[in-house]
Amino acid sequence: MPGQKVTISVIKADIGSIAGHHKVHPDTILAASRVLSEAKRKGVIKSFYVTHVGDDLQLIMTHFKGVDSPEIHGLAWDAFKEAAKVAKELGLYAAGQDLLSDAFSGNVRGLGPGVAEMEIVERPSEPIVVFMADKTEPGAFNLPLYRIFADPFNTAGLVIDPRMHDGFTFEVLDVYEGKMVKLNTPEESYDLLALIGTPGRYVVKRVYRKSDGEIGAVVSSERLNLIAGKYVGKDDPVMIVRAQSGFPALGEILEPFSFPHLVAGWMRGSHHGPLMPVGLKDAKCTRFDGPPRVVALGFQVHNGELIGPSDLFDDVAFDETRRLAQQIADYLRRHGPFMPHRLGPEEMEYTTLPAVLEKLKDRFVKVEMGYTPHVKRSEELSGPEHD
Ligand code: F6R
Ligand code: MG
Ligand code: MG
Repeated sequence: MPGQKVTISVIKADIGSIAGHHKVHPDTILAASRVLSEAKRKGVIKSFYVTHVGDDLQLIMTHFKGVDSPEIHGLAWDAFKEAAKVAKELGLYAAGQDLLSDAFSGNVRGLGPGVAEMEIVERPSEPIVVFMADKTEPGAFNLPLYRIFADPFNTAGLVIDPRMHDGFTFEVLDVYEGKMVKLNTPEESYDLLALIGTPGRYVVKRVYRKSDGEIGAVVSSERLNLIAGKYVGKDDPVMIVRAQSGFPALGEILEPFSFPHLVAGWMRGSHHGPLMPVGLKDAKCTRFDGPPRVVALGFQVHNGELIGPSDLFDDVAFDETRRLAQQIADYLRRHGPFMPHRLGPEEMEYTTLPAVLEKLKDRFVKVEMGYTPHVKRSEELSGPEHD
């Protein structure tokens, strides 16, 4: 009922796909749906929608158990396990890839799946947008989130709507050091940008309306490589954003995606590429395992129930964005293995490249350069200087 608390949980995992890291098989979607149907029948969840973007299986659920509920996370884990079982039976590629552990211990965070959840008091009408991206990382949503909640050139409501005029608070997570900082916009916009312009490290985790602390957005922040310490696929993120009546309008939420900004991911999680907005029918990765794609599904949450979805990027209004994305893809691809198409060395640490470089290690010989280089690792802002 409007006025009651309801939780929206979006939990995703790559449990295997058809013909490479390309597209989820419908039978695995069915397997996960069966598990969630049964949970709905038993009253564990109120409603659900299962879908996929590229090789990621997406569980969108509503329930009354709050965020981080062991019961809901356990349910998602069971759904992924069942889907992975089917993936193994069908011999799908990378079956079970994101289920990094065999044992579930109350929370899927840290086990491989990506999680975005928010508990809200349902408004009389509660529109939400669920974004799901493939072949990129959680920081890919930093730029659009800034534009949605802090840029008046994108969001007219920041200027015009008195309910948004005070601005928003961004909760930023340092995924390297496990630290969090809250920054207010507009007054701390430049500090915020100084951090989130490094999307591989600083990830916008949540956004709150400053005037009353209401949550407006939440992003999955799991970085698989940092969990596993090695490359196990990119951390294809999901995000939930609330729309309208004192939050950005639907069109203000979608507007930043009309610019196919460069994100890290794409082939082997090792390349920059344009984030291309697509409808579900095009939610499959092909060219150079991409380009990175994002789908947006619009729902109403009513009496705790998901009504919808509407496939928002399946629209001619985004045709030019897609065309520009293809042109950017062409341009970048011509760089082959060179930066900045290929990611920088900090990010390549987590790929299979170090294993290749290892064999050259002993072939380097010391030379006299006439000076001793003092090297500062730019990503370790507070880190030590070393030679
Ligand atoms: C990126 C991704 C793919 C794979 C690539 C190589 O997130 O999943 O680009 O990295 O297809 O995959 P393997 O090593 O499994 O052949
Ligand atoms: Mg994959
Ligand atoms: Mg994926």
